[in-house]
Amino acid sequence: MNTLPSTETVVHIRGVGAYLPERIMHNDELASMVDTTDEWIRSRTGIEQRHLVAVGQLTADLAAQAAQAALDDAGLTVADMDALVLATTTPDMIFPSTASMVQARLGGKEFPAWDIQAVCSGFVYGLAQVEGMMRAGMFRRVLLIGAESMSRIVDWSDRNTCVLFGDGAGAVVLEAGENDGCGLMRSVLHCDGSYRELLMAEHAMRGQPPHTDRQTVMDMDAAGVSAIQMRGNEVFRVAVTKLGEVVNEVMAANGVQKSDIDWLVPHQANIRILQATAKKLNLPQERMVVTVARHANTSAASVPLALHDLYQRGELKRGQLLLLEAFAGGFAWGANMLRWSRD
Ligand code: UT7
Repeated sequence: MNTLPSTETVVHIRGVGAYLPERIMHNDELASMVDTTDEWIRSRTGIEQRHLVAVGQLTADLAAQAAQAALDDAGLTVADMDALVLATTTPDMIFPSTASMVQARLGGKEFPAWDIQAVCSGFVYGLAQVEGMMRAGMFRRVLLIGAESMSRIVDWSDRNTCVLFGDGAGAVVLEAGENDGCGLMRSVLHCDGSYRELLMAEHAMRGQPPHTDRQTVMDMDAAGVSAIQMRGNEVFRVAVTKLGEVVNEVMAANGVQKSDIDWLVPHQANIRILQATAKKLNLPQERMVVTVARHANTSAASVPLALHDLYQRGELKRGQLLLLEAFAGGFAWGANMLRWSRD
């Protein structure tokens, strides 16, 4: 159902859901696979464990579970939705989109569904994109999901990266409504492609177009796997700088001060990056959501999983000011700000 554009339209979060696969891998298990220790992983990253998909469990499966939980939380059904947007770096297929697979799993029909790719910033990008479309009157209710099976693109023999990532999904139900002083505020997004080689996973698709002799060369990688490669230390330094800048930028865009922020809901890559951002905001540690110890880096799922974690603790109050931020391969980074809409 479309709505008419109105300058008074504000987008609210009506429901929040999450799903984590059952299997938990602790640091000690990794230490039996590569040259690492629980102590190194904890002290350098803050990670203690991560959830991993089962064999055959797809990104779409995680996403559908989180989305259904968000619908239940909002007291709505998929039939009430006008669109479904899925942020993921680990789509199940090149096409169709994982979003379309999730729509089918939920029993939805006809409404538009699409994926977006901004790696770990996917949910932050998605929130900005969907909010703009809803304020323009295109949709009244949208399911926005961040879902990842990062374990499927990790090189499990590379200690530099395999200790960092986990799988999971988080989702929100967004609803356009009246301006009651709550809801999504202005977002800020950035990308600088000159950094792309510091953090990437090459595409497994190696097919070639037909040659002049009309012979088609399909040199697909038999395994079809493209692993994450990262120059972690360089990524770390840029992440701390850019996140420090973007939180200032989003506060200025919304005319708020550091002291106004009630909760920081950051992308969960490394506890030391989170702490650096909180310090720049003069924010007490208990006002920052930390899930990295339990979830590790779940890329596009990380921010909605952190939001769900805060939500289910029951500490969120209507009108409180939340700052969401993320930094990702690309590099792509950004921040959203909102006043919590639920009682
Ligand atoms: O979500 C997208 C954005 N991603 C990020 O923000 C990740 C940013 N980067 C980081 O979080 C950190 O840079 C890492 C956790 C990846 C690495 O921490 P670091 O403190 O920057 O360590 P480093 O890369 O400088 O490596 C220090 C040492 C090296 O050994 P040498 O050369 O000093 O002998 C590494 O080989 O630690 C070694 N090392 C490990 N040792 C034990 C690297 N990985 C491991 C490991 N276990 N798993």
